[in-house]
Amino acid sequence: MGSPNDSPGTDMRILGIESSCDDCAAAVVVDGREILSHAVHSQTLIHRPYGGVVPELASRDHLDKIVPVLRKAMQDARSSWEDLEGVAATCGPGLIGSLLVGLSAAKAISLALDIPFCGVNHLEGHLFAIFLEQRAPEFPFLGLIVSGGHTSLYHVEGFEQRTLLGQTRDDAAGEAFDKVAKLLGLGYPGGALIDRTARQGNPKAFSFPRPLAAPDTLDFSFSGLKTSVRGFLHQRGEAFAREHLADVAASFQEAVVDSLLLKLTRAVQHTQTRRVVVCGGVACNSRLRERLEQMTQEAALEVFVPSPALCTDNAAMIAAAGYRCFRAGRSSPLSLNAQANLLL
Ligand code: KG4
Ligand code: ZN
Repeated sequence: MGSPNDSPGTDMRILGIESSCDDCAAAVVVDGREILSHAVHSQTLIHRPYGGVVPELASRDHLDKIVPVLRKAMQDARSSWEDLEGVAATCGPGLIGSLLVGLSAAKAISLALDIPFCGVNHLEGHLFAIFLEQRAPEFPFLGLIVSGGHTSLYHVEGFEQRTLLGQTRDDAAGEAFDKVAKLLGLGYPGGALIDRTARQGNPKAFSFPRPLAAPDTLDFSFSGLKTSVRGFLHQRGEAFAREHLADVAASFQEAVVDSLLLKLTRAVQHTQTRRVVVCGGVACNSRLRERLEQMTQEAALEVFVPSPALCTDNAAMIAAAGYRCFRAGRSSPLSLNAQANLLL
């Protein structure tokens, strides 16, 4: 099968908008490949005191920041509004109040400029963000989405053809990172803080479970792992945890990475597909990236991981998905609603 990037360009400039959770982002992308601008306003400081995203605060801040973020994306792209040929926005899954802000902005732009509008599934954005990189895979590939809300493994044969092989039965991998960071008193957002703390620690210092390791499923589970860390901390006490913080963080992180790679390896065996894409916020994790790199050499796999800015929530991936939608002659009606639990 040929490379998905082989199709001739049309110089089509698409504006993408992403507001599904706590990042307010807008990007201008040409032909689904070339990122002209990529503006992101992060709400980290707003949610940090609460140790997690507060939905009402998130949507109110999106309302406040959406216009400045859009203006910045247009300025950075040196684009005038008239240059745009389409506008795409995330329509789900995500926090409903947050989604509605980006979606409504996209509809208003579509109406005002008389250009087509497309609602994009956030997970589709993550899965195909790799095509915004210079080095991108051919189909078919195994796609592992690891984010704050999802942990799902797909066999991907084309932009429209994918089969779900396994998914988390409880917490997402990123959720486990965030909850364990809170237990360890590291703060919010937890994934990056555990990653940083774990660099000073020994991943073999403590033994935490690798749930659902049995060979009969490609599903994941992370809630038992989190409970095990909580029990460990309770048993050993606060002073011990403080003294061995880096070792606990590294040992927990290793358990998550082992669980992810175990299923990925099994899926390679099942499907005989040797190309692997790992995406979503947790794909920023340095230990996961290091272990994937090792797999590339040891298991003769072709591994593709987007750069960190394209792993976490961003609007370039939404603009790229919108481009594919418009190129296929499709668009969404302006009546399209946001869906908090939209499936891929
Ligand atoms: O894809 P994303 O930005 O938003 C969602 O769609 O959920 O992913 C956010 C998740 C959070 O749970 C965050 O803690 C995690 O990605 N994350 C990390 C790292 N950077 C972000 N997890 C582990 N290591 C990291 N370096
Ligand atoms: Zn995401």
